Amino acid sequence: MSKRQLDEARTQLESAYQESVVMLCLAAEGKDQDTASHLHRVQHYTQALAMAVGIDEKEAAHMGLMSMLHDIGKLATPDAILKKPGKLTDEEWVIMREHPIAGVKILGNNPFYEVAREISAGHHENFDGTGYPNKLKSEEIPLSARIVKLADVFDALTTKRPYKEPWSMEDALENIELNSTGMFDPKLVAVFKELFEDGTLVRIQTTYSN
Ligand SMILES: [Fe+2]
Ligand SMILES: [Fe+2]
Repeated sequence: MSKRQLDEARTQLESAYQESVVMLCLAAEGKDQDTASHLHRVQHYTQALAMAVGIDEKEAAHMGLMSMLHDIGKLATPDAILKKPGKLTDEEWVIMREHPIAGVKILGNNPFYEVAREISAGHHENFDGTGYPNKLKSEEIPLSARIVKLADVFDALTTKRPYKEPWSMEDALENIELNSTGMFDPKLVAVFKELFEDGTLVRIQTTYSN
């Protein structure tokens, strides 16, 4: 096989596995009210934030792709809970809070999904140690999970959901900043704000709107 053929085969394989990740996520999304565009916005907010904190381009793109799997564990959450219109009971919350670990199980042992496992396990941990499932604190939470948590919450705040109107990016960032020592890594929040100021976040939102 020539070098050109090898390169072609590699590119084809790469786009095939990237597409399988997206297909898997969309299959899981079908169970949830979230949309495909939410996943793409989270992907690109994650990638931009990762690059802005100095992670190299290839790794940042991989982190972005893996971020799409943050809620893959919801495949294991019963529809009666996932799609319940009203408030969840305490028992239902217990089951809901199992999705980060359920995701880790679904993602198996392949090293390719290492970052996705970190993200699934850590995206509901809080910087001050009050999150779940492991009550990890500050740097104990993997950087990838701290980045995706910010991207995920920011997107939830700035888009329309069945129960709320979208907030402006300014309001969302202000709210996140007020919470930044609790839920979020304050250093990441500061960098994320710069990405708002230089127009990156708006560009991503416009590109991947519903
Ligand atoms: Fe989640
Ligand atoms: Fe999400």
